[in-house]
Amino acid sequence: MEIIKQKYLFIALDMDSKQEVDRFLSYFTEEKIAVKVGMELFYRLGPSLISELKAQGHTIFLDLKLHDIPTTVERAMKQLARLEVDMVNVHAMGGLAMMRAAKRGLENGTPSGKSVAKIIAVTQLTSTTDNILKHEMAVDLPLDKHVLHLCHQAQLAELDGVVCSALEVPLIKEHCGPSFETVTPGIRLKSDAANDQARVVTPNKARELGSDAIVVGRGITQAKDPLKAYHNYLKEWSN
Ligand code: C5P
Repeated sequence: MEIIKQKYLFIALDMDSKQEVDRFLSYFTEEKIAVKVGMELFYRLGPSLISELKAQGHTIFLDLKLHDIPTTVERAMKQLARLEVDMVNVHAMGGLAMMRAAKRGLENGTPSGKSVAKIIAVTQLTSTTDNILKHEMAVDLPLDKHVLHLCHQAQLAELDGVVCSALEVPLIKEHCGPSFETVTPGIRLKSDAANDQARVVTPNKARELGSDAIVVGRGITQAKDPLKAYHNYLKEWSN
């Protein structure tokens, strides 16, 4: 699988209707892009949307963040594998056995002769603060140490990498090695609004910090000219 080596820019399709998706994709009839489909859109449009995106030749990161008992996750992953997307994910907090089961389900469900999707882990959500971790989750480790711990668990389960902030990439690479891949949201051009993201970095900075792939949502999807915005992001990211 060459997906991460290609340093993808995933456009987050955070939309809730087919019309909105179609309107957005109509800007991209001339080129193949990489998209992230999350829970909102998948729960609305399901596997048929994935088939359609695949037929259009786009690369797909299916961001459903599975988290359940190992058997359930294994069986669910087996079903997702049939969709032949390029990347999927699970919560590292589901534990080692669950992550291993996810990978097994993915491998066993992938049609023969097809590439197995990349599988990455969510460590702690960026909405989780030190305070939430300590007082609501009763975890005594500081957030950065806990994120690193979960990265090691994902590595033990032989997952391909993690979703994280670009700012965490150098530390994660230092502890887990350069081939442990990092997919980083929270990306904005200097000229764009941060919206509700607390810590944003530019595509340029993400590259310097060592991100393997970036996820960009509103900076492209809400732009007046999405195609132009995409090229602006891509230019910075691939330079
Ligand atoms: O619009 P924006 O570029 O902020 O969108 C970022 C995308 O990345 C959204 O789909 C969001 O859910 C996702 N994401 C994130 N932070 C994480 C994990 C995922 O912003 N830690």
